[in-house]
Amino acid sequence: MKRDIISVMDMEEDLEDIIDLSIKMKKQRYQDFEPTYGRVLGMIFEKPSTRTRVSLETAMAQLGGHAIYLNPNDMQLGRGETVADTARVLSRFVDVISYRAFKHENVLELAKHASVPVINALDDVEHPVQIVADFMTIKERKHHFSNLKLAYVGDGNNMANSLLLGAALLGTDISIGCPKGYEPRKEIIEKAREIARKTGCKVEIVNSPSEAVQSADVIYTDVWISMGEEKLKEQKEKVFGGFQVNSELVANASRDYIFMHCLPAHRGLEVTDEVIESLHSVVFDEAENRLHTAKGILYTLLA
Ligand code: CP
Ligand code: NVA
Repeated sequence: MKRDIISVMDMEEDLEDIIDLSIKMKKQRYQDFEPTYGRVLGMIFEKPSTRTRVSLETAMAQLGGHAIYLNPNDMQLGRGETVADTARVLSRFVDVISYRAFKHENVLELAKHASVPVINALDDVEHPVQIVADFMTIKERKHHFSNLKLAYVGDGNNMANSLLLGAALLGTDISIGCPKGYEPRKEIIEKAREIARKTGCKVEIVNSPSEAVQSADVIYTDVWISMGEEKLKEQKEKVFGGFQVNSELVANASRDYIFMHCLPAHRGLEVTDEVIESLHSVVFDEAENRLHTAKGILYTLLA
């Protein structure tokens, strides 16, 4: 049976194992990884990417394999070939496919018809590979996942959804502070609450940023305007005005809090320069860990 990673839930059994493998790989960057020699990753990107593309491509190179960047506009996919047929054809060539898509349904469709593993490289619902790097960074800095509070301030978007699931699985308290009407997906909140009952952590959704960050060990934010939402820019910037992570807001957090952001950041909007450049900020370690976790994930899927 092939294995896909479409949601954080697809790592329900081994999220922490993948994190630990990534930590090990970070220390042995160029070690031989025989099971991944000569293996090929096909990467379909419907949206731009810096970190995801470069980390996956570098990961395959360091694992002794190869990656092919596929822009739908240069593929027959852009001329109407179906996702299902694309999946079946690519499966005859490559060993694993990553897909950054506008629609979650298309990632599911690709996975359904591909006979090789499919990695969700971000869609409108989740960003599971980012979560592995985020919690790896938290483990490096805080050494454990329980008795920690992660506050996410901002849009209840793909990042918020995946953070909810990741925190619940690993037993980290999570508080989401977002404007009314911009909460994470209802079914994901429910799923996170169900898992949290088992792992013994709290899942809270509030509409006040200061309430969310109260005594937080980790403060996380993401862009207000996600890729594909450009036409909502004016409207959303108005609604999110009070949700900026700035010096005043972080004063409510625990003294040794860390600041995280999946990047790219829009300084002066969701976060001030002062906070992202402060000693509390771990955003570039977090970005670097995208490489190590890409290797952890690819090795897990291919080995
Ligand atoms: N965080 C993240 O996924 O960045 P990219 O859009 O650059 O891949
Ligand atoms: N929420 C952002 C994440 C970018 C990594 C987006 O979807 O554009």
